[in-house]
Amino acid sequence: MKPEERIAQLRKEINYHLYRYHVLDSPVISDAEYDALYRELVELEAAHPELVTPDSPTQRAGAEPLDAFEKVTHPAPILSLANAFDVADLYAWRQRIGRFLPEPDMPLTYVVEPKIDGLTVVLTYQDGLFVQGATRGNGEVGENITQNLRTIYAVPRRIPVDPQSEIHPPAYLVVRGEVFFPLDKFEAFNEARMAAGEPPYMNPRNAAAGSLRQLDPAVTAERPLSLFCYDIVAWNGGDVPATQWERLDFLRALGFPVSPDVAFCASLEEVAAQYEQWQAKRNQINYEVDGIVVKINDRPLADSLGFVGKDPRGAIAMKFPAQEKTTKLLDVQVSVGRTGVLAPTAVLEPVEIGGVVVRNATLHNYDEIARKDIRIGDTVIVKRAGDVIPYIVGPVVALRDGSERVIEPPTHCPACGEPVTRVPDEVAIYCDNPGCPEQLVRRVEYFVSRGAMDIDTFGAQTAVLLTEKGLIHDVADIYYLKREDLLALEGFQEKKVDNLLRGIEASKTRPPQRLLTALGIRYVGSVVAALLIEAFGSIDALAAASQEALEAVDGIGPQTAVSIVNWFRNPRNQQVLAKLRAAGLQFAAKQPEISETPQTLTGLTFVITGTLPTMSRDEAKAFIEAHGGKVTNSVSKKTDYLLAGEKAGSKLAKAQALGVPVIDEAQLRELAARGLSEG
Ligand code: IVH
Repeated sequence: MKPEERIAQLRKEINYHLYRYHVLDSPVISDAEYDALYRELVELEAAHPELVTPDSPTQRAGAEPLDAFEKVTHPAPILSLANAFDVADLYAWRQRIGRFLPEPDMPLTYVVEPKIDGLTVVLTYQDGLFVQGATRGNGEVGENITQNLRTIYAVPRRIPVDPQSEIHPPAYLVVRGEVFFPLDKFEAFNEARMAAGEPPYMNPRNAAAGSLRQLDPAVTAERPLSLFCYDIVAWNGGDVPATQWERLDFLRALGFPVSPDVAFCASLEEVAAQYEQWQAKRNQINYEVDGIVVKINDRPLADSLGFVGKDPRGAIAMKFPAQEKTTKLLDVQVSVGRTGVLAPTAVLEPVEIGGVVVRNATLHNYDEIARKDIRIGDTVIVKRAGDVIPYIVGPVVALRDGSERVIEPPTHCPACGEPVTRVPDEVAIYCDNPGCPEQLVRRVEYFVSRGAMDIDTFGAQTAVLLTEKGLIHDVADIYYLKREDLLALEGFQEKKVDNLLRGIEASKTRPPQRLLTALGIRYVGSVVAALLIEAFGSIDALAAASQEALEAVDGIGPQTAVSIVNWFRNPRNQQVLAKLRAAGLQFAAKQPEISETPQTLTGLTFVITGTLPTMSRDEAKAFIEAHGGKVTNSVSKKTDYLLAGEKAGSKLAKAQALGVPVIDEAQLRELAARGLSEG
């Protein structure tokens, strides 16, 4: 095959796998297989630079920083929507549009979509290729942010994304969507910013906006932005379906991400019911919504109704009640993180926001407090968004009576009393005392947490109790706990102690990258830990590595390298490592056995749910994949087995409803050992 042919083939395949992974959340090949394809493409392109094109997946962040964004005129106005605030407004809207319809009371069907609280983007495709992406701007003219949008995996570079697809998009197609910052990534992202001395973003929407409007696409590329599409703004040279419901299907079929939370409604009553259901649902999804959008399904009819100002009559936004309230800031508590960071937390007069009583809110750091001029005794605006920890928007200055007190940064650690330190260029204030009792509790909590050693029988209260009672002085002491000491503690009966010890024992088999993560070295999270173990093979080799050797690893910068070297140099940490080794934990990666593993699960699709007795879900996934099987996220008729552990929830119910066989961990091991043919 000629290099250009292979390159074209690789790009298609890689883009398809990126789409399976980032849009459908259902990869069909392993990470290792993906990496092999990607590496091959990088090598071929390096050998043939003349064949590199902007739609290549290697060019995600390849463009040079800009001085400013160029202006672009939209092919059609990017409209906004009129608002409704309750069901009465919804019925009033239906009444109002009656006189523009062929018959005022004619039956209509509707599509209800989440009103995503992100940034509108307008994506242009020419002959299937993504050629331009723009912000909404004033609705007529936006800014050209093509190179930033290219860094977002969910934005298709070429449509249809699925090479097997029979669907042909119009030669010219302009799609509207909303870019957002997934909530599950927001908290960690802000923490990393603060650790690096950068100010945190106020909320996910601001983070998305700040990330999209970066002049340097390399910065955008590091942000985990995502996208949902919901409209076709313009097209030419082909057809698009006439109803909104079919248009969403059409967009999905082309490979655009569409929210899974859209609904078809056969009547206005159904729309009203959706609005009620959404009040609860809005806090359970991974993106922020500020309402729903109700659209008349018949698009030519909807479009024929015309506009009021910039708002089309054929759709309406139903806003949710604000998840924002005012309350009194009673006090500021300082907690000590596992790295010693002192984090200020607001103590609030309890206030109900969106069905939850809020008593605390994050204040991020002391620079933030000073910048917003928040004082104790202030009436403050508190906002809650999805699963994000509530935060303080700012004080209501007009309500001050002079009794408010300015909040001073602490000079001493509230837990151990040692003086604090400030690192130049960082906003965080640290307690640098390695013996600080609160840091120890946080380190233990982190060590046993899910992404680390995953000891699920070891809760936060256990961490507090065992350190308080002096049974744990460092994280390695977890492996030296004695049965009789535990039984002597209040509330620790036989069963609880057995469970705890069993969980601790099982964690000894966790691979070294988990252990490395659990050590809690600053800047070494699970992703970096995996890179390091892949590069060095063991924690011992890592401990012996120089700063230069560390920096030679892709993805490791000087800050991280210095932090690692310092951590392993510290005699206290060396002692902890020695104790962990003596307890029998895994310090070295096992040699890959992929070729020797019998491919007994080939062709089988699994879904995993609940807590398994010895494997974490990631380990079970790796186990299945090593045996040639596939793991997806949701149960469907195509699922061969549901692997279920304790506390299995809706997936179990769904599997039972669909007649999908349910197996436990032991049965999985049996299946993997014997294969289907004999079983
Ligand atoms: S439809 C004429 N659908 O909400 C079509 N808008 O004023 C108007 N938004 O800033 C837009 N999710 O960007 C529509 N599913 C959705 C939406 C949505 C979020 C935004 C839109 C605009 C505002 C409406």
